[in-house]
Order: sequence, then structure tokens, then C-alpha cells
Amino acid sequence: QMKTFVDALLKKMTLEEKLGQLNLLTSGEVVTGSAVSTGVEAKIKAGQVGALLNMTKVDDIRKAQQMAVEQSRLKIPLLFGLDVVHGYKTTFPIPLALSCSWDMTMIERSARVAALEASADGINWTFSPMVDIARDARWGRIAEGSGEDPYLGSQIAAAMVRGYQGNNFSENSNILACVKHFALYGAAEAGRDYNTTDMSRVRMYNEYFPPYKAAVEAGAATVMTSFNEVDGIPATANKWLMTDVLRQQWGFKGFVVTDYTAINEMIAHGMGDLKTVSALALNAGTDMDMVGEGFTGTIAQSLKEGKVDINTINTACRRILEAKYKLGLFKDPYRNCKGDRSTEIYTPEKRQEARKAATETFVLLKNQQQLLPLKKQGSIALIGPLANSRVNMTGTWSVSAEITKHPSLLEALQQTVGNQVKINYAKGSNLTTDSMLEINSTMFGRSLHRDARTAAELKKEALAIASQSDIIVAALGESSEMTGEAASRTDIGIPDTQKELLAALVATGKPVVLVLFAGRPMTLTWENEHVPAILNVWFGGCEAGAAIADVLFGDVNPSGKLTTSFPQNVGQLPLYYSHKNTGRPLTANDKWFTKFHSNYLDVSNEPLYPFGYGLSYSSFSYSDIRLSAKQFKPGSHITATVTVTNTSHQDGIEIVQLYTRDLVGSITRPVKELKGFQRVAIKAGESKEVTFTISENDLKFYNSELKYVAEPGDFKIFIGGNSRDVKEEGFKLL
Ligand code: IFM
Repeated sequence: QMKTFVDALLKKMTLEEKLGQLNLLTSGEVVTGSAVSTGVEAKIKAGQVGALLNMTKVDDIRKAQQMAVEQSRLKIPLLFGLDVVHGYKTTFPIPLALSCSWDMTMIERSARVAALEASADGINWTFSPMVDIARDARWGRIAEGSGEDPYLGSQIAAAMVRGYQGNNFSENSNILACVKHFALYGAAEAGRDYNTTDMSRVRMYNEYFPPYKAAVEAGAATVMTSFNEVDGIPATANKWLMTDVLRQQWGFKGFVVTDYTAINEMIAHGMGDLKTVSALALNAGTDMDMVGEGFTGTIAQSLKEGKVDINTINTACRRILEAKYKLGLFKDPYRNCKGDRSTEIYTPEKRQEARKAATETFVLLKNQQQLLPLKKQGSIALIGPLANSRVNMTGTWSVSAEITKHPSLLEALQQTVGNQVKINYAKGSNLTTDSMLEINSTMFGRSLHRDARTAAELKKEALAIASQSDIIVAALGESSEMTGEAASRTDIGIPDTQKELLAALVATGKPVVLVLFAGRPMTLTWENEHVPAILNVWFGGCEAGAAIADVLFGDVNPSGKLTTSFPQNVGQLPLYYSHKNTGRPLTANDKWFTKFHSNYLDVSNEPLYPFGYGLSYSSFSYSDIRLSAKQFKPGSHITATVTVTNTSHQDGIEIVQLYTRDLVGSITRPVKELKGFQRVAIKAGESKEVTFTISENDLKFYNSELKYVAEPGDFKIFIGGNSRDVKEEGFKLL
């Protein structure tokens, strides 16, 4: 039926109308590239536009759709795309934070809530999930993904796609997902955004491709190209990537959209003029041009010159029409812009879900002498430039959030504790004294109010407040826009002026809890040594304030575990737990520096906090691993069981992690690879058996011929509460 419909429509279309379907323009509300669309209305009416991005008001969307379906010749409806990345109006924590919950049900639900709200407001296409593996914390966009691990990243990618798209598009609330940025965007050299990437294909297939592939297998309707080059060819014009890998190897059936002006940017990459790069992109398998208008501007000429084929244009157009058909837009172009579902947006129930979700994403990094949870009594000095900032709670890419509505930490704490606790507040410092950093990280109206007082005056006030209080809670770290797109940093510590404030607070001798706002792994070596308690709260979404209060006062026991390694210093980057052994590794008996081994003179190879790490108000112990057998044949499996005991007086949740190591391979293999995890609720004093099944499939990898194989031989298996502190066993694959 779809084929007959699209065939018939394609027959009626002129070349200009076909190219129009490949054209994505912006309404101009959010501009992240060098071009802004002009004459949009006239182009829609002339059938020269297939989709719009960045329109957020349902009335505007309805009007634009009306122009397309009532005033253009063929009445083809538009797609409306938006970066609904971690919620719509009800914002959830940033994706990096969400990944730290390791809770696939919650993550899928967060995408569902986003789809419910966005679709009620006219949006039918989200530019999410972002699944780029990132191992360099300098890269600002590490905030938008699920961290460093391909296995966990794949589970999350699939969960997000399911959340956005549901089972099919028969329900109006299901919207098109767009997996991005294909491919390798997270491997930008030196963590500098848009920078070159270069890696072996073995590494691509084993470490960077899996989450994209998982999203495609989960049915992602669209894919976005990345800005970077792959093998010397920008992804947008990379035929191997867009056609051989994506379509032929993975069976992707949807359409590919560029990132913002990515076609035009190939001129700067040095690939030719606009006509050349547009033809390169189309011929590579890229179907839709975001904002650059290279396709509408040049492809007709390239067709005349024989540089592109009409079948290639037809194929791209067909893919886009099919997506519109699947969404049901030809039946009802207004399915998402009636405005009658506006009461479903930002409801108390959805906000409650966002609050609960946020509590799962916080990672307790340190808790000396059980300083946390705080008691609801006495007085607290709440100090820091992030303590009373509303605009900072939601984090990067929350373009549809009404950021000024969300309570600050101060407001939320006051709300939670009422008269039980006296809260004394002081700003203590500005965000930074580095004016370039402050100016450059201001976007979308999220600049922090700058206090005109000097650093000394601000600190003095803070110390006076601290002296009147029993305990200090310091709300420090990064502002929202210090991570995200085009927000890379070479110093990933807490800005100096805040650090000086923190040192002064610690020097008072009062107990200090650091509530760390961050969009990336930060360097916290000094803080880890001197501050008794550190709770990393990332950017927790619209209910972050209340969620932080829930965890600080122990109404919720923290359970988040890191999905990126935290380095000791920036020089260790890129840093990840699943590294190779090298030919000169340090052994258990070596000192942390050993000459002629693979290490540094000045710092050990270890992260400050390893992948998978996170504390709880409970404590857990692990039994040795019990294997059902010491060997198994392909087609069969073994189980590995541990008993996990909650040795504390507090009910808690532990994320139990399973890793394997292939001891001898036809190519070198990582020292550890995550292969399973379970979130387990364990009551105080109780034990639970946690069992994992290991089959041949879990041991497969892409070999040097890019064949997905498991090789017989000896393996290690590790189970523990993080990637470092594990129990160990061995088995054989026959
Ligand atoms: O979806 C985004 C992408 O992640 C970065 N460039 C702009 C796109 C559309 O807003």
C-alpha cells in the first residue's frame, strides 16, 4: 500500500518538488551553524521544503502545515523536527546523567514522556538519541551521550528509540527518532568539537559502532550524519558509512539527514564547491540537507551534468515520503498540531517522574564517615554560584524547557525542609573570573547573573554565613552551557575562583558537602582529598532541586554509577576502563611508576573514579563467583552467580556489573569488557543471588577481517560494583 501510494506521488512530482522534499529548513529559533533559512513561507508554498526544525509553538506549526497541505501544489505534509534530547517541557537529567542510572525502564520512559509532550505540541521528529561513544572529557558533547561503553550505550540507544517510537506510528504520541551523529563524532581529536577523527575499522566496529547499530536494529526511523571526517571523507559524503555500513550491512531502511549545514561545511573541509559537495553527499546516501540548501541549490545542475542520477534523487525522496506515510501524515497532516493535548504537557505526574528519575542519576563519589544523608535539623550554609540559579538545572540541549520556571537548589531545599532546618545562603563566588570562559559559555539565555562584588567580598560573606551554620553545602561546578555543543575545555576542573572558595570553606573545619553540577567527568583530585562528601548531580532536569534535596536528606538512597571514567588529571585523556593491555603493562606487583613500562612519570594510570563506580548510603559485599561449569561449547552457555549482601542498616539499590576478558585473541582484546548488569534492590541486612548467563554471543568481537566471531580459549570473568573492585573467575570456550 505504501509503495503504491509513494510510487503514484513520485510520478506526479517535478524535479524541483522532489528536491524540495530533501530540504530541511529552520524556523530560526535556535541557530547552531553559519546559515539561517530565509523566505521559508514562500518556499513551503512552492513545494520546496520537506521539513522544518526548531519550531516549538503548536499554533505556528499548524500554520506552517497549513501552508504545505493547503497551498502547495501536491499538498505534501511537512515533518517538524526538534532537539527533544532529554525531555520536552518536563526535562529529565542530561543523557550522560540518565546513563548513570543504568535503568533501562526509566530511560525508555523518559523518552516516552518526551514523545508524549513533544507530539502534543506539534513535533513529530526528534533529533535523539545521541549515542556517540565519548572517552575524552574535554569534549563538551560528552554530556549528551551515554558515556564510554559500547555495551551499555547500545542498551540505552535501543531503549530511547523504543521510548520515542513505540511499536509503530499508529499512536499520535509516537514520533520519529533520529540516531546521531553517525559516525565517530565522540572521538574528535583532543576533545575539540568538530575536530578530525581517525581510527581503525576494527576499533570502529568493536567500540564505536555498536550503539548506532543497536538503534538501527531497534527501528530508528532516521539517522543524522556527523560533522567529522571518517577515513578522510566527511561522514556526510562518506558512501562507505552511509550506504555500505548503514544500509547494506545493518539493513537501515529510513532516511539520513545531515547535521546543521554539514554539506556546506565540506567546502571548508576541502572537498570542493557547493555543487560538488552536494552531489557527493547525495551520491553517498545522504537524503536530507539540514539548512544548507545545497541540494535545492545545485542538484538540478548536477543532474544535467550527469554527476547525479535521477534514481538517486527518487530514492532519497521516496525514503522521506515513506517516513511521512508511516507517521500517518498523509491521512492526517494535523495529527500533532490540534493543540487539544496541551494539558498533557508538564503535568505534576510527569514532573514527579522526572524528579524520581533524577534521584537515580546522581552519583555519590565520596561520603566520609557517613556525612550524608543530612539530618533535617539545625542549620545549613548553602553556598555557591550554582546554589540559587534556576537557569542551570536542566543542562544543555533543553531548548523547549522553560528554564526560569524550575526551582533552584535553594528554593527546592527550603520547600523540602520548611522550618525544620535553617538554611543560610550566600553566593560565595561568581562562576568564574575567566571572562572568556564565562562569555563563551553563554547560550540560549543561560548566563549566570554576575555579582559585581569582588571575589574577596563574596568569600567573606560566605565565611560569615558558614560560621553561623552547623554544616556547609557547597553548590559548585560547571554552568549548563560549559558543556554541550561547541563547549570543549582543556581544563576540566572546577573553575579556580570556586575552588578557592571551596578551600576556604574546608579550612573552616566545618563539615562540607560538595554538590557538584557537571556535564562531563571533571578532575576532582584535590576535592577528593579534602572534601568529606561529594555528590555529583550533573544537570538533573526540571525537578533537579527537589531531587537533590531527596538524596541529601536521605529520602532517597543514591544508586547511580559512573558511565565514564573520571581522570586524575586532564593529561590522562582519553581514559576508559576497557583499554588494551599493551606489551609493557604494569603488573600487580609493580609500583605505579615503573621505568620502561606503559605509564606516566607524574601520575598513575588509574582513574580517580573508575567506570561503574558510585557509592550508596548502604554498603554491599560480594561473595566469590560460582560458575555452573568451567567450560562450554558454542551454542551452549554457563551461568555465573554471586551473592550480594547489604551489610548496612539501610535498604538500597546496587548495580551489579559483569565483565569478561578474552585472554588470547587473533587481535588484541580489552582488559575488561562490560557484558551484563543488573539493578538489584536489597533490603538492609539481606542478601540476594544475582545470576548472569554467558553464551558464545557475549564473547564475540569483530576480527581483523571484520567478521563477528568468538574464538575458543580461556576467558576471565569479573563481577563487582564497579569496573575496578571485582571478584574473578575463569572459564573456557571450547
Ligand atoms: O540535532 C542537532 C545536532 O546534534 C547538532 N547540530 C544541530 C542539530 C539540530 O539542532
